[in-house]
Amino acid sequence: MQDKIKQLISEVDNYVASTKDQLEAFRLKYLSKKGVLTDLFSEMKNIPVEHRKDFGLLVNELKTKAEEKFQLAMTGLESVSDSGGHSDLDLSLPAEPYVLGSRHPISITRNRILSIFGRIGFTVAQGPEIEDDWHNFTALNFPENHPARDMQDTFFIEQREGTDSIALRTHTSSIQVRVMETTKPPIRILAPGRVYRNEAISARAHCFFHQVEGLYIDEGVSFADMKQTLLYFSREMFGAETKIRLRPSYFPFTEPSAEMDVTCSICKGKGCNVCKYTGWLEILGCGMVDPNVLTNCGIDAEKYTGFAFGMGIERIAMLRHDVKDLRLFSENDVRFLKQFSGE
Ligand code: PHE
Repeated sequence: MQDKIKQLISEVDNYVASTKDQLEAFRLKYLSKKGVLTDLFSEMKNIPVEHRKDFGLLVNELKTKAEEKFQLAMTGLESVSDSGGHSDLDLSLPAEPYVLGSRHPISITRNRILSIFGRIGFTVAQGPEIEDDWHNFTALNFPENHPARDMQDTFFIEQREGTDSIALRTHTSSIQVRVMETTKPPIRILAPGRVYRNEAISARAHCFFHQVEGLYIDEGVSFADMKQTLLYFSREMFGAETKIRLRPSYFPFTEPSAEMDVTCSICKGKGCNVCKYTGWLEILGCGMVDPNVLTNCGIDAEKYTGFAFGMGIERIAMLRHDVKDLRLFSENDVRFLKQFSGE
């Protein structure tokens, strides 16, 4: 009997609990009402009187040791779980800094364009990315089956006979149609947004990109007004020294139409590889709104005239920040994006 108690004492001495469940098993075995110690104490009366003292001493030793072990293990386990497993956590250390995201370069450039035109009274209009044929093409004077529709390789969602198709908008001019249909002139709006074209993806082209188009309609609006507005924009965007030039072009919805170049902001017009040694960079298309378009949208073409222009945001951002590959704007590589955090 005495040997059995000594063995229990050494078991208690060597006991290690690493979880609360294990410790509870220990408590049940030794310290609970149905545990070893209760049994041993009730055994006392059966022990011959001459051995009772020694027996009592041993059982008491077992009891004290089991209780001490239990208390120690309990505080040990609690301190571990309180500090999440790191009892050596130093609360006086500075906190880890939050990593803040930065605005996307396309958003930065778009906001800059909107704010430059905002200062001369242009407000922002929006419209759907899924458009019907009328708003994307027909109202804009694209004749049915006219090759001009191929100028903008279209992603059709539902291709129907005639002019009933549904497509992803190929330009934000569709927003301008929506505004002209619902607003009485004067109209002075910007139409920013994402547009889609079925083009092979390369460093210079993508199947989607972003545009800002502008529209100004009122009585007596002239080509000279357009030129002055675009000169103001170019100087604000690329610097006060910037010059512009207009080259004749063609769009179904403007007459006359032009493409506008600005002096290269990188070499200041001297010639470099960005402007291909011409000193000029093409940045937008523009023109006087074709009277057919005004009529299609319910505006009196005898009374009102207007101009429109459209530019690709990616192109402007590439020029401003000397980005060589258009695909970088949609890959969302943080190493690229975080370079714009100061903007
Ligand atoms: N909508 C034309 C395009 O996407 C741009 C443009 C707008 C040209 C307005 C002239 C006038 O290419």
